[in-house]
Amino acid sequence: MLRKLLIGTALASGLAFAAHAEDVKEVQMLHWWTSGGEAAALNVLKGDLAKEGYAWKDVPVAGGGGDAAMTALKAMVAAGNYPTASQMLGYTVLDYAAAGVMGDLTETAKKEGWDKSVPAALQKFSVYEGKWVAAPVNVHSVNWLWINKAVMDKIGGTEPKTFDDFVALLDKAKAAGVIPLALGGQNWQEATMFDSVVLSTGGPEFYKKAFNDLDDASLKSDTMKKSFDNLAKLVTYVDPNFSGRDWNLATAMVIKGDALVQVMGDWAKGEFHAANKTPGTDFLCYRFPGTDGSVIYNSDMFGMFNVPDDRKAAQVALATATLSKSFQSAFNVVKGSVPARTDVPDTDFDACGKKGIADLKAANDGGTLFGSLAQGYGAPPAVANAYKDVVSKFVHGQIKTSDEAVTELVKAIDDAK
Ligand code: BGC
Repeated sequence: MLRKLLIGTALASGLAFAAHAEDVKEVQMLHWWTSGGEAAALNVLKGDLAKEGYAWKDVPVAGGGGDAAMTALKAMVAAGNYPTASQMLGYTVLDYAAAGVMGDLTETAKKEGWDKSVPAALQKFSVYEGKWVAAPVNVHSVNWLWINKAVMDKIGGTEPKTFDDFVALLDKAKAAGVIPLALGGQNWQEATMFDSVVLSTGGPEFYKKAFNDLDDASLKSDTMKKSFDNLAKLVTYVDPNFSGRDWNLATAMVIKGDALVQVMGDWAKGEFHAANKTPGTDFLCYRFPGTDGSVIYNSDMFGMFNVPDDRKAAQVALATATLSKSFQSAFNVVKGSVPARTDVPDTDFDACGKKGIADLKAANDGGTLFGSLAQGYGAPPAVANAYKDVVSKFVHGQIKTSDEAVTELVKAIDDAK
């Protein structure tokens, strides 16, 4: 579908921009980094490019998880109006590459040695038919808990190691009159949390089979049903006003101590960082109970479009800056993510960042690094969207039982495949 919509726009784009010689020293970037922590991270990039004389033309489209941004991108590309680059997640990069609208950064990649420094799990999504079409910015992971330390101390809580421990901890918060679980009732947030619940409930092999291989037997199994039971249990600890809440507002509830914990990708740490909070003192980062040793990842990529020749130098400058070691450290320290290269020292990272880097390496070496289905790395966008829809309907009571949720999930994924 994407291919059909986009076909023939390459030429239009070339003509539209060829006349604008003044565009050459400009990077036009579409992204969904609009929260405080995200904007601070983006400023690192803007600053680096400004030093090289490139102006920044911002195209922000708010909405965590990027669904709104991807709708905007589709419209821009269909109109032949290619940005220099767009923030994208995994399978979306491959979709645009298959539609023939991406550029080719292979020469830059060779010069900069990306083949050697970028892990294979990321190259799978940034290289298409042998050509580099995207520059990976970072690696995020979703199976984290973000906990307010003062609230934790007040309720006498300790790190939950199992799902039952987690429930007991949430009960303690409830008894103390604190909102136990901060959640934003948007489908991508609910599904991002469910990724962790499934890994915790079924273990690494199960997560992989169900959410990366889309194995039918796993999707319709009792373990998946149990995962929905566990999700239903967690939702009982959420405050009544959660529908539609943005993810960073849920993080703010934890930062302020209005809530004990948020289950969220480590972009949440960017919000703690922006609020000058320190891990171990103000907040705690633990792996989602029962998922220690595994990492469910996503990576922000800058998908590079096939821009006209007079805009290519800016694109190369962007790509080179993005994968430089110094940027990979400076940006990811602020963003909450970890470097997309394996050769960046962890010196400047806080304790959670150091743990993130070590966990990623261990998971990569041990075969327990899995793509997030909610975050575009488990399956193509149509499947991911079907998944988010079913999880959200379950959380909001339109799907009433775990049995029904499993049936709907299997059907929705089947239809989307
Ligand atoms: C992106 C993060 C971003 C988060 C919330 C995720 O899909 O990978 O970079 O911070 O959405 O906006």
